[in-house]
Amino acid sequence: MDEEIDKILYEADAIQGRIEEMAARITEDYRGKELTVVAVLTGALIFTADLLRRIPLPLKLDCVSVASYHGNMETSGEVKFDQLSLPDIGGRHVLIVDDILDSGLTLDAIMAKFHKECGPLSVRICVLLSKKRMRRKEIAAEYVGFEIEDEFVVGYGMDYEERYRNLPFIGVLRLEDH
Ligand code: IMP
Ligand code: MG
Repeated sequence: MDEEIDKILYEADAIQGRIEEMAARITEDYRGKELTVVAVLTGALIFTADLLRRIPLPLKLDCVSVASYHGNMETSGEVKFDQLSLPDIGGRHVLIVDDILDSGLTLDAIMAKFHKECGPLSVRICVLLSKKRMRRKEIAAEYVGFEIEDEFVVGYGMDYEERYRNLPFIGVLRLEDH
């Protein structure tokens, strides 16, 4: 599987080190507040698991499942919620955790839906990666792990056609394999 990776952007240790710093900031910011973390499935699963175990606050964890990619490398532009029920976040401070901020469409759709239908006290965004590119929706992410170039990355939860999520590092796929 590793032969299909062109270059490694962040080794496992570097990822963990950065997560430690992010968790420390989040812990300070949300101390004494009613916090619900909402992970965006499936890509944010591994990041969320590592992040939350470093946040020693009495938080709640929920998930949302959305689809916008349909297995391709370009977002379809339409964001579909796969769930019948939305997280119970009325009157709570919400931290949405996602793997990567790309076009911004996914997080914009989730924020809009939460504000419109769920009555949260506040909503902030935490992403492990943010691509340096023109967004289709401007998103202010308060917590960003790493800023990366506009390349397609896999590993540490992120996939290409549902593969590579289990790589312990973050890398760029070799182009001839797509
Ligand atoms: P956005 O709606 O374009 O911001 O896309 C967000 C979602 O697209 C992320 O949560 C990822 O699941 C997926 N995505 C965007 N860029 C990449 C990438 O480089 N590798 C893997 N998944 C990506
Ligand atoms: Mg995703």
